[in-house]
Amino acid sequence: DDRPTELRPPTSRTQSRSRNSSVNGRSMSSPADFEFGRILGEGSYSTVMLAKNIHTGQEFAIKVLDKGHLKRKDKMATAMAEKNTLVRLGAGHPGIVRLHSAFQDEWSLFFVLDLAKNGELQSRISKLGSLSLPCTRYYTAQIVDALDYMHSKGVIHRDLKPENLLLDDKFRIKITDFGTGKIIDTGATRAKTFVGTAQYVAPELLENSETSKSSDFWALGCILYQMISGRFAFQGLSEYLTWDKIKRLDYSFPDGFDEDAKDLVQKLLVRDPSERLGAGEPGTPYDLKHLRSHPFFAGINWTTLWTDPAPPLE
Ligand code: ADE
Repeated sequence: DDRPTELRPPTSRTQSRSRNSSVNGRSMSSPADFEFGRILGEGSYSTVMLAKNIHTGQEFAIKVLDKGHLKRKDKMATAMAEKNTLVRLGAGHPGIVRLHSAFQDEWSLFFVLDLAKNGELQSRISKLGSLSLPCTRYYTAQIVDALDYMHSKGVIHRDLKPENLLLDDKFRIKITDFGTGKIIDTGATRAKTFVGTAQYVAPELLENSETSKSSDFWALGCILYQMISGRFAFQGLSEYLTWDKIKRLDYSFPDGFDEDAKDLVQKLLVRDPSERLGAGEPGTPYDLKHLRSHPFFAGINWTTLWTDPAPPLE
C-alpha cells in the first residue's frame, strides 16, 4: 500500500477513482478541474487551498480533508455534518461562505467554497490593534444579519470568532468553518459535548453543555468587545481560568469604550441565554428586532448593508 498519509496537492494524483457529487444539480467537478495554489489556512483535519477552475478561470477556496485522518480520529461523520450544514445554508446569504460543489477521490474530501480574498478578520484586528467605530459597527451589523439568516435555517455556528470571520474582495464579512456547526430541529436547546474556543464560549456551555442560537450571540458580544478594545473580554492565564471568568461574568471595559457599544456588549454578555439581545423569541424585548434597533446600529441601513461600500479598514 503506497498511499500517501500526508495531504498532497490533488493534481499530482490519479483521478480515475474520484467520485463527484453535485450540490445544486449543475456542477459535476473533480480535482482535475482545478489548478491548486497556495495554502490559505490549516485546521486539525483539513487544509484550505487557493484553487482556480481551469475551464472558467474562477477562483475558489477548496477545503481538502484527509479521509485517512478523519477515519482514524472518528471524524468522518463530523465532515459529513459540515457538508450538510453548508448545503442547508445554500447560496442564501452573502455573509456566509457558500459551498459550490463537493467531491472526493481515494484520499480526500474536497469542499469548493467561496474565496474570501482578504483573509481573516482576526489578522486585521491584530495588525491594527483594534478597529475604528465605523468598522466595528459595520462588521457587527453584517454578523448580526448573517446570524439571523443562519439561525432561520436552523443552523447554530457554535464557534464564532474573528478567525472564522473572513473578508471578501469588497471587505465584507463571510462567516466560515461550520465544522462544529449544529443543525437544530426547533428553537430548543440540545445537550452537547462540544465546547468552542475558550475566549468566546458562553457560560451555559460550560455549566450544562446546552447550546442554542443564544450561544452565538454571546460570542458576538465577545467579538464586538474585541474589535473595539483590541483584547479579549475574558482572558485568564489558562483555559480553565478563562472559563472561570466567563462563569463569573468577570470582565470590565477599558476607559474610552464607546457608550453605545458598551450598552450593547452588556446586553449580549448576559448569563441567561434567553435574555440576550437578539436571542429571545420574536415579540420579546430580547428579539432580533430589538437587537437591530439598538442605538449602536443607528446609521446602519439594514436593507443596503450588503451593497453599500465597506468603511475604510482602520
Ligand atoms: N481560509 C479559510 N477559508 C478560506 C476561504 N474560504 N477563503 C479564503 N481564505 C480562507
